[in-house]
Amino acid sequence: MKAQKLFCFGHRGARGHEPENTLRSVRKGLELGADGIEVDVYFVDGELIVIHDRTLGRTTNGSGFVSNKSFAYLRSLDAGKGEKIPTLAEVFDTVNRRAIINVELKGPRTAAPVVKLIDDYVAQRGWRYDDFLLSAFDHKQIVEAKRLRPEIPTGALMERVPRSLAAFAVKLGASSVNPPKERVTAKLVADAHRRGLKVFAFTVNEPADIARMRALGVDGVFSDYPERCR
Ligand code: G3P
Ligand code: MG
Repeated sequence: MKAQKLFCFGHRGARGHEPENTLRSVRKGLELGADGIEVDVYFVDGELIVIHDRTLGRTTNGSGFVSNKSFAYLRSLDAGKGEKIPTLAEVFDTVNRRAIINVELKGPRTAAPVVKLIDDYVAQRGWRYDDFLLSAFDHKQIVEAKRLRPEIPTGALMERVPRSLAAFAVKLGASSVNPPKERVTAKLVADAHRRGLKVFAFTVNEPADIARMRALGVDGVFSDYPERCR
């Protein structure tokens, strides 16, 4: 049987190799041949910043909640190996259309400023809406992104699989369902494909899991080690 090509997203850049969600991690993901680069984004103090947690302690030398900090403070922190917390625009510039950029909308009220930034790159720099994928566990943010700019592809992140499988994602106007690898079944994949949706599973690092995702017909995976799913 011919091995099926998986679309490979570098998770938080290339988290297995470099400090997650830093430009160094993004560059590593590109170097390792990722088809897409995934980053997590919050809108804080009027800026789109790239970090996973709501708090600073795990990934930086700061502490407390991300949301009540000034941009100047956030930028003064070390996010690992001397890297700053990047802005989303810095990630766009670093990727520079060499891979799809998957912006995971983590913080509340993040959809509108992200759409605005994407609009700027499309209008002023000749990028395309399908250079991006917006995703969120908070499906209200997908609805908001779709309302503002339906041309941008969206992925519906999910923790659990509903009884009606991928039907909810069609209602959201999403182009993919993004389940955890443990929740992927042949039934879900078949249902998503029948509805014209792709299936992108997270976070898939072990070769055996990558092989299982392939065998189940998954379209793409998020991996901390993007070189493993190529
Ligand atoms: O988008 C895939 C994955 O990043 C979702 O979970 O917690 O790693 O952001 P998390
Ligand atoms: Mg994420």
